[in-house]
Amino acid sequence: MDNAQLDAMFSGIIGEQYQTLKLICPLAAKMSQLVAEAVDKFIVLQENPAIAILELGGGTGITTLGLLMAAEEAKVLSVDSEPTMQDQAKQSLQQWSSGQGRLSFDGRDALTVLKATETASVDIVASAYTLHNFLADYRAEVMTEIYRVLKPGGQFINGDRYGLDDISTHTRVIQNEVSAYFKALIAIDKLDILEHWIVHLFSDESENHVMRESVSLQQLAQAGFKDISLSHRCEVNALVVAVK
Ligand SMILES: C[S@@+](CC[C@H](N)C(=O)[O-])C[C@H]1O[C@@H](n2cnc3c(N)ncnc32)[C@H](O)[C@@H]1O
Repeated sequence: MDNAQLDAMFSGIIGEQYQTLKLICPLAAKMSQLVAEAVDKFIVLQENPAIAILELGGGTGITTLGLLMAAEEAKVLSVDSEPTMQDQAKQSLQQWSSGQGRLSFDGRDALTVLKATETASVDIVASAYTLHNFLADYRAEVMTEIYRVLKPGGQFINGDRYGLDDISTHTRVIQNEVSAYFKALIAIDKLDILEHWIVHLFSDESENHVMRESVSLQQLAQAGFKDISLSHRCEVNALVVAVK
């Protein structure tokens, strides 16, 4: 796939030491909670809580765990194309996979899995910090497919990096983010991780990746979504919920 190089970054040092992200971006862990809370709100309104959740970019399992806790009767399919990341989730979430049988994994890329998923078969497509990694064209296809696989009334719930429309403010926010990386990682002598995150940030900020707020919300509307909301904005991070 086109973004293979990006994915490869996750299989190196970032994949193995992803926990360090919590140090430099505490909101990463909090965002998984926000996604889980949105799932919880959805469940409350359902007659049958045994819903089907498709998670894109499960990573080490932080978001997956939130989903499993929020939706205690749901079946979760967690997708991640990087084995280094998914293996950590498989290891730490065994009680839900082999134990309760509520969690399964797919190691293919998000678009391939979506294309192989039946139309109107999923209650929630949930994700955190994954879609911003996609190239814009790939992401556009993913959005269309997410809409197709959701049941009517189903929701797309995504906590992610949504670039600010005001480019000058956005640049200042990113500059502050870079400074915070240096402070946190030099303090614990993790210069190799620092290098990888700076390299990764260049991908995130490149023109063919950056997921600008207004463009993303328009894209959702064009795909057919309604009741589109962006909330909990903190710097470049925000929670987006959209209803089919
Ligand atoms: C930043 S991590 C987020 C993990 C987790 N959701 C969290 O918030 O901690 C993004 C994950 O998306 C995965 N990923 C990136 N591109 C993907 C794609 N096209 N298909 C499936 N997974 C992908 C990466 O391997 C990585 O594990």
